[in-house]
Amino acid sequence: MKTLREVLQQASRDKIAIGHFNFSDLVAFNAIVAAARELKVPVMVGVSEGEREFTGVAQAAALVKGVREEYGLPIYLNADHTHSIAKAEQAAKAGFDEIIFDRSDIKFEEDIAETKRAVEAIKSINPEILVEGEIGWIGASSSVLEKVPEGVGVLTTPDEARQFVAATKVDVLAPAVGNMHGLLQSMVRGEVQKRLNIERIAEIKAACGTFMTLHGGSGTNDDDFKRAIKAGMTIVHVNTELRLAWRRGIEAGFAAMPNEFSPYKILPVAVESVKKVVKSRLELFGSK
Ligand code: G3H
Ligand code: ZN
Repeated sequence: MKTLREVLQQASRDKIAIGHFNFSDLVAFNAIVAAARELKVPVMVGVSEGEREFTGVAQAAALVKGVREEYGLPIYLNADHTHSIAKAEQAAKAGFDEIIFDRSDIKFEEDIAETKRAVEAIKSINPEILVEGEIGWIGASSSVLEKVPEGVGVLTTPDEARQFVAATKVDVLAPAVGNMHGLLQSMVRGEVQKRLNIERIAEIKAACGTFMTLHGGSGTNDDDFKRAIKAGMTIVHVNTELRLAWRRGIEAGFAAMPNEFSPYKILPVAVESVKKVVKSRLELFGSK
């Protein structure tokens, strides 16, 4: 099985991106696995601090290991948006492939100092783990929002990217390039889409030279996705769209089977609903 670094190197050469999808239950997990298996593509799954509080850290790692071994699927586990070194170390010890150390909520200089410490701590447990750092504020919630969160919209500069990567030695950078976590109501209704600054993505890529991740993928314009990937984004995160599909699928399952009490009979409706979203995103991210 290829390492995550090797998978990203290949994707970067091919100018495609690896899809990263969050899960906190078997419905979403099974949907992501089924979509990736059908398309025969590598995939990343992520659990944020909140999500892994629910799944369990070791349990999330065991699920991924099981699927890798049973199906030979190149599936990689990410400790998404980790805010403390203690939680990063816990994920590193559990065998995660990537850890996102996210202190984008503090001042740039402090973010550099904290991330540098986190990289050293993680690599001392396992030097193979990829560490991602974040600069620029893009909000924090994969949910349906009333309005754009305060402070979102300021773009990362190429200089900041160069300085951050050189000082922290992160393997992957997550910049702010017009992206935002979550969906506005208008985006759920399909009236508005997120638009990305493609030129800035290319400038940041040239300045830092590392792998880059596009966070906040839900609700993004398809053409912007394609151009962002060509400009240097190698991982794309999508979460809120899956959560919406999960909720709608669960509701449809209950509505279709009002007298059914076996979860494994009702929940496949939700798996299908989430799988549809994951498949369409994987097809888009993987198209050359
Ligand atoms: O890390 C998670 C992602 O960045 C998800 O963003 O909920 O807007 O798709 P999203
Ligand atoms: Zn994110």
